[in-house]
Amino acid sequence: MLRVLLVAAMSNHQIRAILEGSPSLGALESLRIKQLEEQSSALRNSVICAFNQLLDLKDLNTGLHSTRLAEWGMRVGQELGLEEAELQNLEVAALLHDIGKMGIPDAILRKPERLDPEEYALMKKHSEFGWAVLRMLPGFERAALHILHHHESFDGKGYPAGLKDTEIPVVSRIVCVIDAFDAMVSSRPYRKGLPYEEAVRRLTEASGTQFDPVVVRTFLSFAQAEMSTVFAAAGTSVSSAL
Ligand SMILES: [Fe+2]
Repeated sequence: MLRVLLVAAMSNHQIRAILEGSPSLGALESLRIKQLEEQSSALRNSVICAFNQLLDLKDLNTGLHSTRLAEWGMRVGQELGLEEAELQNLEVAALLHDIGKMGIPDAILRKPERLDPEEYALMKKHSEFGWAVLRMLPGFERAALHILHHHESFDGKGYPAGLKDTEIPVVSRIVCVIDAFDAMVSSRPYRKGLPYEEAVRRLTEASGTQFDPVVVRTFLSFAQAEMSTVFAAAGTSVSSAL
């Protein structure tokens, strides 16, 4: 039973690798592998959906924000030529990047005023909390690592590890840029989203310091043209989110 669960939790990529390394397989074995691939995908999707529902329970906007991030992220990842397995990790990291906020008190998460240093220090723990939870799940270890580093800064001034440049996993660099952009253009109950042009100006200004310039350039090459598509895919419209 445990073996079945472990295999079911493997990514299709991992199952394929085992299949390719095996001696000739009969039709039955091939069928079994196909079933395991389907189980793996279903389990993976169920876990993502369950965690996403938790995010929605905590704060509805966060769930929609995550869905848009996955749309933007996959597009940037494809443009940058990431491999299929890494794209799958990117989707998970984009959807669940802030899952660690489940461990942050609401009084801090929803505080309209500026956080004091102590509160801010606790808020910054959310990337470590997310990593600590997701790394426990077989098949989600790399996505957990990407979540751990989604607030690193390209110049090394981010957190939690102060990694810089290409020390930061590329998936984390992508999530960092699109997370900032989506947060800027989306409205919150306490503030209206920034106009697209202002968000682009801020991304460009922080390109090379906070953000990876290649990721920013790639994202901005299609961002405006795809705003409507991404917001529609996330079940919102640009006008309602702005
Ligand atoms: Fe975050």
